Amino acid sequence: MRSTNLLSLIPFVRLAMAQNTWSFVQQGNSGIIPLELINLSPTLALMYDRPLHQPAQASNGESAWAGLWHFDTNTATPLEVKTNSFCAGGAFISNGTLVSVGGQPEDDIPGWGNATDGRMAIRLFGPCTSANGTGPGCTVFEDPENLHLVVTRWYPTALRIADGSLMIMGGSDILTTFNGADIAQNNIEFFPPRKGEEGTVRPNKFLNDTLPANLFPRSQVLPSGHILMIANNKSAVYDVNTNTELMRLPDLPNGVRIGVPFDGFAQLLPLSPPLYEPTVLACGGSNKTDTITVEEMSNQDVATTQCSRITLTHAGIAAGWEVEHLPDPRLLPETVLLPNGDLIIINGAHTGQVAQYSGYPSVGDSGAINGNADHPATRPIKYKPSLPSGQRLTQVGLPTSPIPRMYHSSAVLTGKGNIMVAASNPHPFVLTADNNPNNYSYPSEYRVEYLNPDFITKGSPRPVISASPSKLAFNAKGTITVTIPASLAAGELQVSLIDMGYITHGWHAGQRLVFLEHTLSGNKLTITAPPNGNIYAPGPGWIYVVANGVWSEGVQIMIGDGGNPPRPAQGVPVSITSV
Ligand SMILES: *[C@@H]1O[C@H](CO)[C@@H](O)[C@H](O)[C@H]1NC(C)=O
Ligand SMILES: *[C@@H]1O[C@H](CO)[C@@H](O)[C@H](O)[C@H]1NC(C)=O
Ligand SMILES: *[C@@H]1O[C@H](CO)[C@@H](O)[C@H](O)[C@H]1NC(C)=O
Ligand SMILES: *[C@@H]1O[C@H](CO)[C@@H](O)[C@H](O)[C@H]1NC(C)=O
Ligand SMILES: *[C@@H]1O[C@H](CO)[C@@H](O)[C@H](O)[C@H]1NC(C)=O
Ligand SMILES: *[C@@H]1O[C@H](CO)[C@@H](O)[C@H](O)[C@H]1NC(C)=O
Ligand SMILES: *[C@@H]1O[C@H](CO)[C@@H](O)[C@H](O)[C@H]1NC(C)=O
Repeated sequence: MRSTNLLSLIPFVRLAMAQNTWSFVQQGNSGIIPLELINLSPTLALMYDRPLHQPAQASNGESAWAGLWHFDTNTATPLEVKTNSFCAGGAFISNGTLVSVGGQPEDDIPGWGNATDGRMAIRLFGPCTSANGTGPGCTVFEDPENLHLVVTRWYPTALRIADGSLMIMGGSDILTTFNGADIAQNNIEFFPPRKGEEGTVRPNKFLNDTLPANLFPRSQVLPSGHILMIANNKSAVYDVNTNTELMRLPDLPNGVRIGVPFDGFAQLLPLSPPLYEPTVLACGGSNKTDTITVEEMSNQDVATTQCSRITLTHAGIAAGWEVEHLPDPRLLPETVLLPNGDLIIINGAHTGQVAQYSGYPSVGDSGAINGNADHPATRPIKYKPSLPSGQRLTQVGLPTSPIPRMYHSSAVLTGKGNIMVAASNPHPFVLTADNNPNNYSYPSEYRVEYLNPDFITKGSPRPVISASPSKLAFNAKGTITVTIPASLAAGELQVSLIDMGYITHGWHAGQRLVFLEHTLSGNKLTITAPPNGNIYAPGPGWIYVVANGVWSEGVQIMIGDGGNPPRPAQGVPVSITSV
């Protein structure tokens, strides 16, 4: 009996080791700088940038500043937009429409493209059901006269909340390195507007208290439906229905700041039934004081290695932030949730300051390289949430890319199950090999790479989903037809529901993974949708089946009834521990 058990472990160990090896492959050219990147479908991603005299041309012969990325051909096609989408935020809402909000003032430089002021813009896209991105739903809808935000927002965060609508928070009236009391939009509004709040915003004390580093607030929706707001070195829990701040968390330890302009990320770790206990991870950024002046900053200032997490329960908050360290310091790191619940930390730099707007030259010594960050971080890091503290972060098996991915880079999980890595442009113009008279570092980057797990590189057997529901009501059961290769069948089986978020300036707003309860019988996998909209806000997502750490390709699903927001409460209440 014993020796049988031991033998059965051997293939498991071999496979677990094999999938630790990843590789980069370069494929195609993005045509514009996809500093905003949103995965739309197995074949398409949406990219937004600014008028900048990009290689891709719109139909009017002007340079384009939005486009579609085609995963099957690794090519880009331009997309028409009127407003300046640069520096916007966004999310999908409950009816599957992608909403992009805010942006940059008008850009009107002949030949660069001509965009109207985008700071109050609301841009609707989709659902686009054609695989090649042509046809109904596959254009950006704008009506600036009638459909716009209440206030101007540059660098705002938008999150889909429990009723399937958008909570839109923060930002600034105008481009800035630091936010300031005179320009900050320290307030919240909704799309669609809440009944009785049309044309108004909610002033927010937390945003005021986190000046001057509160741009793109790193907010998350907790399983209670409350919003965890993180900016600068502070965090608060906010009740969106009563417009009350419920509590403050301890400050991020050791003087580290992750808000913009001290760029680090915060990401909710995967949520698992039955308690969906939320833990948030905050990594990278800087430990400079927020009273430092731009002149005092240097692109050689070493970023922090700090990676800390806190569990959003009363006991977890009492225990405080648990500190770990990245293998190397990181500024502007991004993180991508993998279907097995691990995270990949990718892109950014080891040194610098104010890497966001600021990625644009502004620090004391930015001149020589025309940028605020230096020493690109070209080797990703893996974070395994389930391992004990001290063992979670590793670079074993992860490759180094030859391409620096500085300010304005992006990375997103694809339907194929690899990570698309794109862009980089720390300059306020396009800098290419044949147009770089001052030899500045880090030219505008159009090369696209994929970071592949080795089961994709090698084409090893993976779970295959051959049928799945396109829509699933909260708490409802659905059936997926799946083939699990015999070589993986002995390992753990996971089913993940992923919102890949709206990636803007390295911030993966709304990115979320919820593991689903499931039972397998033959090739029929019965899954149960999340119990209610607090656990996963009604709207679109992706499902992956993971066997022994190897994931299938993703399939798209609509969670909830797919109706226009706001949706009434759906599903069932559950007993949770989240604050
Ligand atoms: C840009 O568009 C605006 C508004 O449509 C127009 O007034 C302006 O002349 C245009 N500029 C150029 C250079 O085409
Ligand atoms: C896109 O796909 C549609 C069918 O969905 C087809 O009619 C059309 O010709 C295709 N367009 C291009 C440019 O490939
Ligand atoms: C914002 O914070 C400043 C400084 O802490 C304070 O003086 C001011 O009253 C606050 N404003 C609001 C609207 O809370
Ligand atoms: C957080 O930042 C504030 C200033 O913005 C500072 O007073 C405070 O000491 C910081 N907290 C920690 C734990 O360093
Ligand atoms: C700030 O971070 C730098 C670089 O990691 C480190 O050398 C320095 O000791 C830190 N300072 C404080 C006050 O923690
Ligand atoms: C840029 O580099 C080229 C080739 O190394 C050199 O010939 C040129 O003088 C440099 N230009 C500047 C402005 O440093
Ligand atoms: C989705 O809902 C929004 C907000 O109500 C609405 O503006 C949009 O037209 C809807 N999209 C579709 C495809 O119905």
